[in-house]
Amino acid sequence: MKYIFFIALIVSISLADGKKVFETYCWGCHHQSAVAFGPPFSQIASKRSAAEIRAMIADPEGVSKIFGYKRNAMPAFKLNEQELKDISAYILSFKPKESNITKDINKTKDK
Ligand code: HEC
Repeated sequence: MKYIFFIALIVSISLADGKKVFETYCWGCHHQSAVAFGPPFSQIASKRSAAEIRAMIADPEGVSKIFGYKRNAMPAFKLNEQELKDISAYILSFKPKESNITKDINKTKDK
């Protein structure tokens, strides 16, 4: 029980740091769930891994092409290892839970 609390504490601390990175560097162009200049974090989280997010931050010009964007409008950021970890965990925390379709399927299964 104690351990669960401890893990939850660590996760929430690192999410708080990720929020700081987000507010410092990303907020003008990305919002958590609304489309701004760039795509919302909820959308990014549903299709990218932590490694892909980190690659995009370091080299948006190259990686946006791989992601299928025709133009790149995002500047590169030099974040340290901890900031990269924190911001990717923060973005991934917006991953939508189950889609409604799977929920409906599960509901029918229970009956
Ligand atoms: C000046 C505006 C701007 C800022 C600041 C910015 N972004 Fe972006 N971002 C964009 C745009 C526009 C795109 C769409 C692709 C492109 O233009 O390269 C994008 C795309 C992305 C993607 C890939 C989207 C996908 O298809 O999966 C990720 C991940 C991302 N941004 C993360 C971040 C993070 C993390 C920060 C802060 C450290 C940040 N961005 C700061 C404008 C910005």
